[in-house]
Amino acid sequence: ALGVHGSGHPAGHSAGTPAAAPVSVDALKGPKTGTPDRRFTLTAQEAKVRLSSGRTVDAWTFNGQIPGPELRMKQGELVEITLVNKLKDTPVSTHWHGLDVPNGEDGVAGVTQDAVQPGGTYTYRFRVKERGTFWYHSHQSSSEQVHRGLFGPMVIDPVEQPRPVDQDVTVQAHTWDTSQGSATALGTSDTLEHRTARPGQKLRLRLINSDVLTRTFTLTGVPYTVTSIDGMDINQPGELTDRRLVVAGAGRLDVEFTMPDTPVRLAYEDSPKAGIAFSADGKGTVEPRFDGDEFDKTTYGKPGSQPFGPRSTYDRTFNLVLDEWLGFYDGTFALRQTINGRVFPDAPMLMVKEGELIRVRFLNRGQEDHPMHLHGHHVLVLSKNGKPLTGSPIWQDTVLVRPGEAWEVAFKADNPGIWMDHCHNFTHAQLGMVMHLAYE
Ligand code: C2O
Ligand code: CU
Repeated sequence: ALGVHGSGHPAGHSAGTPAAAPVSVDALKGPKTGTPDRRFTLTAQEAKVRLSSGRTVDAWTFNGQIPGPELRMKQGELVEITLVNKLKDTPVSTHWHGLDVPNGEDGVAGVTQDAVQPGGTYTYRFRVKERGTFWYHSHQSSSEQVHRGLFGPMVIDPVEQPRPVDQDVTVQAHTWDTSQGSATALGTSDTLEHRTARPGQKLRLRLINSDVLTRTFTLTGVPYTVTSIDGMDINQPGELTDRRLVVAGAGRLDVEFTMPDTPVRLAYEDSPKAGIAFSADGKGTVEPRFDGDEFDKTTYGKPGSQPFGPRSTYDRTFNLVLDEWLGFYDGTFALRQTINGRVFPDAPMLMVKEGELIRVRFLNRGQEDHPMHLHGHHVLVLSKNGKPLTGSPIWQDTVLVRPGEAWEVAFKADNPGIWMDHCHNFTHAQLGMVMHLAYE
């Protein structure tokens, strides 16, 4: 059988990981000394959690809540996070999705650390380089553990005053297995949640999709701007109305608007009754619209400065074809999600040298969306379907490659270690769509 995403790998090194890599993960830790600016404790534990509809979830949680607590910090701070495992029989780890931390702090069980056994603890220390909207999740048997609730939001304020808003609302969408079937909820709301917002107030919504599938949000009743994608700011974002805001599994969008005199509604296409209604009296609402054009990030905003681009010279180019394959595998008839026709641990290993400029081309020949997530690095989007971007530079940690699409991205190899590069649809990862990036 295949190694399951982040589990079933022997501790330390998994197949497909170069055992003889010259860099040792232990040498690639965050600062060992220094008083942390922030300390957090995340306790993995079971909890029965009630959604707003009354349905209950037998969840695996951080700190007894779903989503886990919002970890709020400031760019540049030294952060110390202690993971305590109080689950029965279930080892866990924690990965800081989208943060380019030192390799030894990346939280990938079987690659950068051993999973934390029941009764055990593990401490992560790193300095936060990024700012914006991120999230954390278990990286041990992710398919099951993230689905059951081992995740939460992470919000990093910039050093300088953030664009002041009157309400900063984190919305983490997830589909739960409840006492009465599956329910998609924003936070714990699987029904309409009412909030008061005075006309003229500025609001920021941090939309996080913690499902494995691509999801669509809509905001009805007001023009808005998308100010950042995957936590990275958009250059001169323009005003939009009624777009279908498509967010990859694991992706994030920050949206800002000024409250009008009339109600505004945040809705989720897959679960139209859930959502948030903002109004002056906390009672009003408006019907959500799902018929708008899709938000096209490749033409949005204005071109801005970027350290490399479509015409730069690249030290290496990796061409990766994503596809599915149904056939005999290990003696059984099974579906596999493949990269260049192979599955983990035989999928390509991306070998790079520190300082190199790397280009990666993804082509999806299959039938399903693949949100491809590279750990430890942000990639700059160069082109989609052969066309260079005409809008703002886009830096992503998770690149959504839909069926038939070709995306070209690039990054600087500036964070030594062994990094996962995988489809964030954890089911696909389990079916083989996992590779690693390693430094020579
Ligand atoms: Cu968000 Cu390898 O994970
Ligand atoms: Cu996939």
